[in-house]
Amino acid sequence: MSDPLLEPFQLKHLHLRNRIFSSAHEPAYAEAGMPTDRYRLYHEEKAKGGVALTMTAGSAVVAEDSPPAFGNLHAYDDAIVPWIRRLTDGVHEHGAACMIQLTHLGRRSGWSHDDWLPLIAPSPLREAAHRVIPKEAEDWDIDRIVGKYADAAERMLAGGMDGIETLREIKKIQPICEVLLLTGHGSMETSIEGMKLGAFDYLLKPVKLEDLLPKLAEAFEKKNGQDQKIRSAHIKKLFRYS
Ligand SMILES: Cc1cc2nc3c(=O)[nH]c(=O)nc-3n(C[C@H](O)[C@H](O)[C@H](O)COP(=O)(O)O)c2cc1C
Repeated sequence: MSDPLLEPFQLKHLHLRNRIFSSAHEPAYAEAGMPTDRYRLYHEEKAKGGVALTMTAGSAVVAEDSPPAFGNLHAYDDAIVPWIRRLTDGVHEHGAACMIQLTHLGRRSGWSHDDWLPLIAPSPLREAAHRVIPKEAEDWDIDRIVGKYADAAERMLAGGMDGIETLREIKKIQPICEVLLLTGHGSMETSIEGMKLGAFDYLLKPVKLEDLLPKLAEAFEKKNGQDQKIRSAHIKKLFRYS
């Protein structure tokens, strides 16, 4: 009799070769917030060992005012995209899927790291472990942090994380954000699902720069047009009330 743990599992678009996965935990292998070779090899070994899915990071941080508390990855930095791409390519080569945990640590960090910014949390209460008294988040802090999550999710998508779910969340948070899917799996179903969820378009990897640049320009045009419409509607509304 076969072990059900070793049976494949279909999680919407994502095919998992068995039901074994490694949950999020921070190995603290990052260098300057980037998942460099040691970080990648750690996850590649899990993929080689046969897990179906490896969840990278333990709370990769989405904003500068969520400084790393335990060697967390800087998901707020564009420089992370090529490192994430190397990591996901390495994991995919060994047949496993790859996810990442994205977090704003709130009061669960210290202010005296990285940019020395005040910490922000839902209430100004001290957290026992990190001992920081945070600033109480205001509406604009929350709006900014929500945007930071969407930006970080986009970076992870660009880095090849297995993330149609990411697209769904990006569209929920920032409906006018245009997303171009770059898929390495050549899976038509993934691409169709992505288009249904509102991706601007998709390209199969490897992508030539001459194909990518016009698509990016088109997506930028479309977003600009929508921004313009929203601004005009705002202005009209202001005139109506003045
Ligand atoms: C050192 C360590 C760090 C962890 N860091 C995280 C984390 O950053 N995010 C998270 O969601 N879970 C974290 N976890 C929880 C694990 O992902 C897992 O859910 C937990 O260890 C239970 O699984 P286990 O019984 O196989 O250890 C951590 C666990 C350990 C031991």
